[in-house]
Parts: sequence; structure tokens; C-alpha cells
Amino acid sequence: MSSLSIVRTRADLRSLVSNWRRDGKKIALVPTMGALHAGHLALIEQAKAAADVVIASIFVNPTQFAPHEDLARYPRQEAADIEQLQAIGCDGLYAPHVSELYPEGFQTRIIPGAVAARLEGAFRPHFFGGVATVVAKLFLQVEPDMAIFGEKDWQQLQVIATMVRDLDLQVEIVPAPTHREADGLALSSRNAYLSEAERAIAPTLKQALDRVADAIQQAPETLDEVLEQAKAQLLASGFQSIDYLEACHSQTLEPWQAGDPARILVAAWLGKTRLIDNRGLD
Ligand code: PAF
Repeated sequence: MSSLSIVRTRADLRSLVSNWRRDGKKIALVPTMGALHAGHLALIEQAKAAADVVIASIFVNPTQFAPHEDLARYPRQEAADIEQLQAIGCDGLYAPHVSELYPEGFQTRIIPGAVAARLEGAFRPHFFGGVATVVAKLFLQVEPDMAIFGEKDWQQLQVIATMVRDLDLQVEIVPAPTHREADGLALSSRNAYLSEAERAIAPTLKQALDRVADAIQQAPETLDEVLEQAKAQLLASGFQSIDYLEACHSQTLEPWQAGDPARILVAAWLGKTRLIDNRGLD
């Protein structure tokens, strides 16, 4: 088991990272909000394969939660997260107090553009501004060579890639494929909220995505009809409501048109839990 350096302040982070830099190490950052599961561990494995040292961050970022959302009940299990990071051979953990990211008087935010406007942006208008702001701050504090983000949060990945390009941030954004349970459910920290009955229903989300992907590949003229059928299937299976199920241009997230690279994205409520997922074409 390799030793994990845990830092909680910018000063300690700076000395850890500057030691690595002095030794000529290539640094990968894996930003997380903790409650680590196999999906996060796959991001860390991918980071280890691509860089000399890997630092994960755990920070439940308050600015990406609206007042009515689940900030207070978001799963926090730092001791278990640390054990997993140690076991997998992660080199560093940055687990800052909120004041290290948002000190007294903090007032500057990043406002993402059109890529953040639709889908998640329409249902959670505060969300991408909070994500972009904290991720930009993590990049500036850690100064990694690369950062790994899961495709599970596809729109987030596009928002971050766009921010990095627009602001000339010197970090390579590396996407990592979505990790799924055997029945297709994408791994997510929020799966912990699901009851046993809800957990049995949850894989319908991936089936809906597959159905839409098949339509685009085999009979794109049926897309609108198939989207309606897939929504009806989700509701019939036990989902309470659907925020969106859409086929989009994979980078701009504008509605899909024939010839566009496609991504299908969904967000739907199962009881009190909001699940999101997405997929591309085969
Ligand atoms: O995907 C997440 O876990 C978060 O949105 C992130 C990127 C760590 C920013 O808080």
C-alpha cells in the first residue's frame, strides 16, 4: 500500500505539489465530491496510467447546490474514502475546508456560456456556474498537467472543456468512460439514496438511452416518436417524472440534427432521487 499524502490547506497543497514538480513528475488531478465508488476508482486508475503522480480532491462544493437541493444530505464518508485512496495507490488527497476555496469576501464566479444553458442548465440554473468556478479554482490551486472527468456527467465535461479552451487554462482534460453495474445502472454517489425497490427500477434509464441510440442509428426519422415512447416506458416503470430525455450534438448540446455527432442525455426522478445518465452511439 503506497502512502497517501493528505493536505487540507492551500499552503500544504503548494508544498506537496512543488515537491512533485521539483522531481519532474507529471501530475493528474481527479476532482470529486467524495463518497467514492468504483467509478471514481476507475478515474484514479486511468490517471495513474497517464501521469507520474495522482492527486484526488474531495470537496462537496456548496456553490453547485441550490438551497432546495441535497447539499446537507449529500453522502460524506471521508474515512472510507481515504482507505480506498490508500488501497488503490493514490499519491495525494486535497480535502480542503470550505474557506480554502471560498474565503471571507469571495465574490467572483465563472459564468459558462451556451453549452451550459440547456438540459442540466435549464433545470439547475446555478449548477454549472458553481462547477466551473470550483474546478477553475482547483486547477489554479493544484496546477495539474491533466485532470480526469467521468463521461457520466457528459454536459459537465463539455462545460469544463469549453472553459479550459476559452480561458487558456494550462491543463489537459481527459474524459473517462462511465462505469456501470451489471444491469446497466451508471455508478453514482446518489445511487446510495435509492431504496431496494427504486434500485430495481433504476436500470430502465439506461434502457431508455439504448432505445433512443438504436433509433438514431437505424431509423432517425422515428426519433421524436421513440423519445416519447422511451419517456412513457420510464414513467410506466416507476420513475415519477422526467426532466429531459434528448438527443443532442455531443459537444454543443444543441438538439441533434442528422449528421451531428450524437449524445443522448437523460435526467429523471426516482422517488426523491434525481438520476442522470447519457450515452453516445456505437
Ligand atoms: O462531478 C463532480 O463530482 C463535481 O461536479 C466536481 C467536478 C468535483 C466539482 O465539484
